[in-house]
Amino acid sequence: MSKLSLIDRFHHWRRKNRWNRQYKKGKWDYLNNDREDLRYQKIVEFISKYASKNPTILDLGAGEAVLNGKFDKNSYSHFYNVDFSKNSIDKAKQKQLPNSTSLVADIHNYNPNKTYDVIVFNEAYYYVHHNLKKEVLNRFIGKLKPNGLLVVSIYKEGLDCWEIIDANTSIEKLDFNKVETDREQTYWKVGAYRVN
Ligand SMILES: C[S@@+](CC[C@H](N)C(=O)[O-])C[C@H]1O[C@@H](n2cnc3c(N)ncnc32)[C@H](O)[C@@H]1O
Repeated sequence: MSKLSLIDRFHHWRRKNRWNRQYKKGKWDYLNNDREDLRYQKIVEFISKYASKNPTILDLGAGEAVLNGKFDKNSYSHFYNVDFSKNSIDKAKQKQLPNSTSLVADIHNYNPNKTYDVIVFNEAYYYVHHNLKKEVLNRFIGKLKPNGLLVVSIYKEGLDCWEIIDANTSIEKLDFNKVETDREQTYWKVGAYRVN
């Protein structure tokens, strides 16, 4: 966070409060609809295909744990949902998903003392402040177990996200897919990467 000016930190704090208000009002309930399901299913597919059996999964910027709810409870050993919005994490906890932990933390400085088989940035990496994008990516690549899998989903093009991810020499691209929908301008790009 030291790479952020006082004014950036203030804006970041305001954004967090905005997310909290929006979750409280139900603005993100639409993430449960069928169109959005297409991208969650792509992430589930990549994890089933490329991760080790019964992986531990860390979902960064997990919101209400919608992704967690898409998995069969026998397909992972533990699912960790992390979001800086307390209201979203409260909603995630209310779901009482099996073998799951949901906690409030900020991706900018969250530094868990665990390693994981899979780490997911599902519509969250583009919210990381530009000055911290490389540092955050490297910190979480460092939290992957040997042969661990990183999965990233980004709406449309996501300014300077893929450039930073693709330039990182600690990971190797395994798969990449454009998830299109019935709406012309609504699509996501989803990438799967193996740690070297
Ligand atoms: C578009 S929502 C996606 C939610 C979830 N990944 C999904 O697809 O269901 C983006 C999420 O990122 C979270 N977020 C944004 N910046 C964050 C940060 N610095 N630390 C933790 N969470 C953050 C927001 O609170 C929000 O829940």
